[in-house]
Amino acid sequence: MNPLNPFAHPAQVVTVALNPALDQTIEVAGLQPGVVNRALRMQIDVGGKAVNVASCLSDFGVHAAVAGQLGRDNAALFEELFQRKKIANHCCYLDGLTRINTKLVDTVSGETTDLNMPGPEFAPAAAADLLNQVLERLERLAEHVDWIVLSGSLPPGMPVDVYATIIEQTQAAGVSVLLDTSGAPLKAALAAGPRLIKPNRHELAELFNRPLDSWAALVAAGRELLHGSPAPEWVVVSLGGDGALFLTREQALHAHPLPVAVTSTVGAGDAMVAGLVAARLGDLSLAETAQLATAFSAAKLTRLGPHLPRPAEVRALAEQVVVTPVA
Ligand SMILES: Nc1ncnc2c1ncn2[C@@H]1O[C@H](COP(=O)(O)OP(=O)(O)OP(=O)(O)O)[C@@H](O)[C@H]1O
Ligand SMILES: [Mg+2]
Repeated sequence: MNPLNPFAHPAQVVTVALNPALDQTIEVAGLQPGVVNRALRMQIDVGGKAVNVASCLSDFGVHAAVAGQLGRDNAALFEELFQRKKIANHCCYLDGLTRINTKLVDTVSGETTDLNMPGPEFAPAAAADLLNQVLERLERLAEHVDWIVLSGSLPPGMPVDVYATIIEQTQAAGVSVLLDTSGAPLKAALAAGPRLIKPNRHELAELFNRPLDSWAALVAAGRELLHGSPAPEWVVVSLGGDGALFLTREQALHAHPLPVAVTSTVGAGDAMVAGLVAARLGDLSLAETAQLATAFSAAKLTRLGPHLPRPAEVRALAEQVVVTPVA
């Protein structure tokens, strides 16, 4: 039983937060570098991609757990979120602070400037120790859990193949992995065959080392992954304001974005990842998956922080999402 959430249901999904963060959002009207800017408002949200995904899942009524690491010195904010959203906390506590990422939101241009910290530096022994503890917890959780979400960057010193190791060990035990990362960890993890991946356009272009600026180029890149060995079953490429591309070996669909009033684009991809997992748990078709995942993102765009409105509202948004086949 989890001591922080004694009444929590067994988790259906566990997200792995190897490099969580607190997101400090500061709103400025007309941000100018190199001068004194008067900020309008500041908000601190518990964040990091894996925590964002768990938070959105929980808002939708999916029982989620988080495994990974937290800095002891500012863990209270995470614990408060986990308790409030009934997210089971299976994190290892490390000395020091969890990193703080700053987002400067310009309320005039609508642009967000991110200042991201790298996270704690891991010596080889500490990295191996954390990986072992995470694997042990995932093994225990695998009894109830259907999906594991691996998302976000790795802290310095963590081996780039750490996601690959987790995928190999957990998928062998019958759990499915959704992977959302970039760069070297993405490349290494693909070799272990995650079941579903959600790169954005930039992350996919970086992986293929070529620009992907047409539908044909995007679909071709996705198809290459779907016919690789090992291959994911689903590839979802998010395209920011252009929506997202949903690919299986048989189908290619474009989910158009919903015309919502954007408050913050931070974590739109994480909300989409949560929607993808919720859709998989419900065994939805590819078109319904595209609609639900897009609705999760749209619902999140209207607010700061990794939060969704009530499930009925998200489902109503999903019905409005237009999905068209891509030739
Ligand atoms: N400006 C926007 N207007 C409408 N919808 C948007 C906008 N930005 C994002 N979205 C929606 O959110 C989804 C995911 O966004 P995006 O492609 O930016 O993810 P991402 O790059 O992985 O983001 P992050 O990793 O920062 O969470 C898109 O597929 C789209 O449906
Ligand atoms: Mg992303």
